[in-house]
Amino acid sequence: MKTLIENGTVITHAGRMAADLLIDGETVVGIAARGSHGWTAERAIDASGRYVLPGGVDVHTHMELPFGGTFASDDFESGTRAAAWGGTTTILDFALQTIGEPMMAGYEAWREKSDGNCAIDYGFHMIVSDVNEQTLKEMDILMGEGVTSFKLFMAYPGVLYSDDGQIFMAMQKAAENGATIMMHAENGIVIDVLREQAIKRGETDPIYHAVTRPPITEAEATHRAIAYAELAGCPLYVVHMSADEAVAEVALARDRGLNVFGETCPQYLYLDWDNLREPDFDGAKYVCSTPVRDREAGHQEALWKYLATNDLQVISTDHCPFCMNDHPTLGTQKRLGEGDFTKIPNGLPGVEERMRLIYDGAVSDGRMSLERFVEVCSATPAKMFGMYPKKGTIAVGSDADIVIWNPDTESVMSVDVNHMDVDYSAYEGKTVQGKIEMVLSRGRVLIEGDTYHGSTGDGDFIARDTNQYLI
Ligand code: URP
Ligand code: ZN
Ligand code: ZN
Repeated sequence: MKTLIENGTVITHAGRMAADLLIDGETVVGIAARGSHGWTAERAIDASGRYVLPGGVDVHTHMELPFGGTFASDDFESGTRAAAWGGTTTILDFALQTIGEPMMAGYEAWREKSDGNCAIDYGFHMIVSDVNEQTLKEMDILMGEGVTSFKLFMAYPGVLYSDDGQIFMAMQKAAENGATIMMHAENGIVIDVLREQAIKRGETDPIYHAVTRPPITEAEATHRAIAYAELAGCPLYVVHMSADEAVAEVALARDRGLNVFGETCPQYLYLDWDNLREPDFDGAKYVCSTPVRDREAGHQEALWKYLATNDLQVISTDHCPFCMNDHPTLGTQKRLGEGDFTKIPNGLPGVEERMRLIYDGAVSDGRMSLERFVEVCSATPAKMFGMYPKKGTIAVGSDADIVIWNPDTESVMSVDVNHMDVDYSAYEGKTVQGKIEMVLSRGRVLIEGDTYHGSTGDGDFIARDTNQYLI
């Protein structure tokens, strides 16, 4: 089946062009100046006045993640369907090793949860919770499976935390086998002291989640992770960065020519302590780690600047939803922390909202070009994690993962129109410029106006290559 997308403006990270696209089956087979070809197709899509963008690539999601005694409320079926509604056609999620168990058991469990259940293409990073001799060998095995990135935690002592020696050993292994180390960079040991002291003082509200994770705990851990990665000689990708001081460490490392990269997320660009202070425990909706920061301290504008200077290269979501009041099987998840902020499950929803939020704040508000928007939301994440040019761009031979975007229409963020399996939107009522009118995944139309044509199991597992963004 051939599909022709005509009369649109095709945008990639490399430029824009008034061009028609020919898709044959799952693949883009032709891009030609408007009217310069004689292509015919079974299906023609008129994209007049629209942008034709590569599908979004969200390299940081947590469907069904076990956390704090509960599970992230989106499973692979609901979460990937919501991603498609939001113009994202590829996700990378995190398989989790249980402490004391082989890493492969965690990987296989996550493959089982996801295979046959995803609406869009997906792959995995591996969370290493227990670095030991066997785990290091399993890193090699996973590389052969197309799992080429491993996340370690400097936070959450006793749960996901690795000590410095364990981190360094995993980094040495990554230097040897070509993996990228992803780091949750917060000094969890110091943070645990601050949390305990806060609770003893009766400081139990959601805002204290952020107060007890000050920017210096992110900056110090980022600095340390960079030092170890430099010594080991592996690429380092610091996830969900929110503090100006921490990204400054990434910028310094990059200035020294190191393969050090940084990711931020919409919550750090839009949300702040005022959200955490919302009354009636509503602040819990915004509890995630690293925390959203104090707007007055200038972190948000600093992050936008680092995105402009390519000191931050990727915007992902860290989608990890937990319900406030209303989930049929999981209950009132965020309320586990009522009266004690340390028990609030960390994470918030976003996989459906990222593309529109970033288009609005970046392109409409004049902070980024359209090309840079595509670069940080699609092309660079695909390169960083070994999926380019199959994913992340529109080129002859690429997967036909396409979003048709109307720049002249607004949309409103709301739980009432979202498709994520969670009972709130962190951006409730926010009006953004731009509307997603059509989404194709490998040539299949998933979204057409208000209609969903996808089905469970449409998505394929992606066995990834190694990092294609290295210096
Ligand atoms: O708060 C967050 N970020 N939850 C998800 C787990 C993680 O650390 O990425
Ligand atoms: Zn993390
Ligand atoms: Zn995460």
